[in-house]
Amino acid sequence: MEPAIKYRLIKKDKHTGARLGELITPHGTFPTPMFMPVGTNATVKSMAPEELDEMGAGVILANTYHMWLQPGESLVKEAGGLHKFMNWDKGILTDSGGFQVFSLAENRKLTEEGVHFRNPANGDKMFLSPEKAIQIENDLGPDIMMSLDECPPYFETYDYIKNSVERTSRWAERGLRAHQNPETQGLFGIVQGAGFEDLRKQSVQDLTSLDFPGYSIGGLSVGEPKEEMNRVLEFTTPMLPEDKPRYLMGVGSADSLIDGVIRGVDMFDCVLPTRIARKGTLMTSHGRLVVKNAAYAHDFSPVDDNCNCYTCRNYTRAYLRHLFKADEIFGMRLASYHNLYFLLNLMKRVREAIMNDQLLELREEVFESYGYNLP
Ligand code: GUN
Ligand code: ZN
Repeated sequence: MEPAIKYRLIKKDKHTGARLGELITPHGTFPTPMFMPVGTNATVKSMAPEELDEMGAGVILANTYHMWLQPGESLVKEAGGLHKFMNWDKGILTDSGGFQVFSLAENRKLTEEGVHFRNPANGDKMFLSPEKAIQIENDLGPDIMMSLDECPPYFETYDYIKNSVERTSRWAERGLRAHQNPETQGLFGIVQGAGFEDLRKQSVQDLTSLDFPGYSIGGLSVGEPKEEMNRVLEFTTPMLPEDKPRYLMGVGSADSLIDGVIRGVDMFDCVLPTRIARKGTLMTSHGRLVVKNAAYAHDFSPVDDNCNCYTCRNYTRAYLRHLFKADEIFGMRLASYHNLYFLLNLMKRVREAIMNDQLLELREEVFESYGYNLP
């Protein structure tokens, strides 16, 4: 059987753990390391697919949890799958609902069978099992799917995390058995284990023995300090097979992307760029810019003088400030476009730097102009 997803390693950085590669999916090939914009409800909020394409997004995310509750996976299946439904013909990855059910659902009850909860919209009783998550993802039809996992709080006890790792491994195996379309959809296992090296190791061993086409690193960026995330990545990625992609879930700040790449991560996603954009916060080469600030009232320069995006080529800080002050939706669109372009462009520079063995130099340059302290 030909797997749906293939990773090709092109080059390893001489000085760090970074990898240049590409991921070959049924909806095209995209270069890695890559940042994936989040489209929770089968839309990257306020962005047209053509715009995402134009800014270089080769793969986007959607959420199993949200699509299941609304409009329901059977409607999406009837439409011909997520790609057709949302008019996006490049890569799609769905999260399993494991994370969302823990952060969004009400009256949650975790059992070995799965998670019981109430639909926050209408109070209906719901049940998400590893098999149900896979059935929904099979119906939605993304190129890459996630196993149902338990994402525990970072600072839990060793015993708690051990239980959650073992349950996540059992759920991954159940999901793999329930998966109907391994030739057209690649299913990833999710490594858990919080900050415990031996539990991350156990999680990696359990999952790699099941031979997934890719591995996600979960349970990070959940409120722990950045140094903790880097420490965990440092020992986790080297345990993973070199010929499979590694996806760090829920990470999307410029500094964390670079520090993740340096530790061997290939894929990232996060709502951060689009979420802060809708509040008027812009990611720039000089750090974050809160465009509503009075300082920009008469500032007729672009958001970022180093950015070549549609927003920066055509609009000023003063205009964006006005749009946000007047609550005009075009402001959110322009800011979202810029923030996504900014991160996608950063990853492009990261890939070029790996090609030239200059990633540490790029890190220094970005951190310096971004305003972070170098370690
Ligand atoms: N998104 C961010 N972190 C996680 C995680 O640990 N598990 C899942 N399923 N999704 C995530
Ligand atoms: Zn821009």
